[in-house]
Amino acid sequence: MDTQPLGVAIVGCGVIADSYFRDLKLHSDVVTVIGCFDLDPSRAEAAAEKYGCHAFQSLGELLASDSVDIVVNLTIFQAHYEVTRACLEAGKHVFSEKPLTTRYDQARELVALAEAKGVRLGCAPFTFLGEAQQTAAQIIRSGRLGTVRVAYAEVNWGRIETWHPAPTPFYEIGPLYDVGVYPLAILASIFGPAQRVWSYGRVLYTERTTKRGVPFRVETPDFGVTIVEYASGPVARLTTNFYVTQQTKQTGIEFHGDVASLYLSNWHSFRAEVAVADFNQPYEPAPYLKQPTEGMDWGLGVADMARAILAGEPHRAAGDLAAHIVEILEAGSVSMRDGTYVELTSTFEPPAPMPWAVAAGTAET
Ligand SMILES: NC(=O)c1ccc[n+]([C@@H]2O[C@H](COP(=O)([O-])OP(=O)(O)OC[C@H]3O[C@@H](n4cnc5c(N)ncnc54)[C@H](O)[C@@H]3O)[C@@H](O)[C@H]2O)c1
Repeated sequence: MDTQPLGVAIVGCGVIADSYFRDLKLHSDVVTVIGCFDLDPSRAEAAAEKYGCHAFQSLGELLASDSVDIVVNLTIFQAHYEVTRACLEAGKHVFSEKPLTTRYDQARELVALAEAKGVRLGCAPFTFLGEAQQTAAQIIRSGRLGTVRVAYAEVNWGRIETWHPAPTPFYEIGPLYDVGVYPLAILASIFGPAQRVWSYGRVLYTERTTKRGVPFRVETPDFGVTIVEYASGPVARLTTNFYVTQQTKQTGIEFHGDVASLYLSNWHSFRAEVAVADFNQPYEPAPYLKQPTEGMDWGLGVADMARAILAGEPHRAAGDLAAHIVEILEAGSVSMRDGTYVELTSTFEPPAPMPWAVAAGTAET
């Protein structure tokens, strides 16, 4: 692409910021990180020094800079809405970590604001762009499984307090909002919009202790089972929890169709196992459409948005998809509380497959 890379500023220099700073460098044809900001200035200064960019003293200073085209919002969940809104109002494109907001009315407001301002809004999870995930989607699109009627998705995410220095924001929103979003985004990218949600949730393990030995109580369900019906026909059963170890054998997503099933071993890793089994037959590995990145590329969602801005095309991990996911999360939490199902109203433009995943039968091993 014969254009200047877009200037990126990172807001929120906590645990995940390192992965973004590191992997955005893989996309220097479309983005350059020029600066960062954190409410804790020492974090922004440390990141700026480590990654060779400018530490802004305030969000206002960052937003006043003409060198910033895209703001990447890596703040805690509870700050996503305020930070993203301020950036959109200032006319910046925004890519946010997940979930877009913790409330659906706010998510809708941000999508409308971005549209009104003529700027892009993107949001994690973008893991449906990974090689394994795109391979799985392409196999399903090709009809290899026949009609897919049910998917089982497992998110057993262990105990956040055993590794994260500041776990309480995660427990305030719970595992459906924090990590349920990963399979939900993959399922949405394949099945399209959902129309109805049921959810059961309860707290399994109330009394917890941070790594620094500070006790805290869990009040939002740390375990949930959510049933999502998609307008295109399939139903998904999603397990989310902050109790069962990630070493469990129940991982990833299984798609079951009339003719065959597909197993995607992980909704996060771009090198997840993809396997297909004819009905009543054992699973056989399926070749990737493209050789996968090791682990995942944390810069991919932002880079896809930047490339789309430069080319004047739609980006894939888009705001309307993210807002739909927030509507599912909110419906799940209402359903957990009220014991009834919740109908959804929002929809989104389905993301296009990655260019290398468009043509069927281009598999390389
Ligand atoms: N930690 C992970 O493994 C991980 C993985 C995937 C996604 N995420 C997402 O990344 C985001 C951040 O998670 P984290 O683990 O890095 O959290 P963290 O608590 O380590 O870091 C968040 C940072 O944001 C800063 N911050 C909070 N409010 C702010 C505001 N209004 N303006 C500027 N800075 C502000 C905090 O000072 C802190 O440095 C969350 O949305 C989470 O869902 C985290």
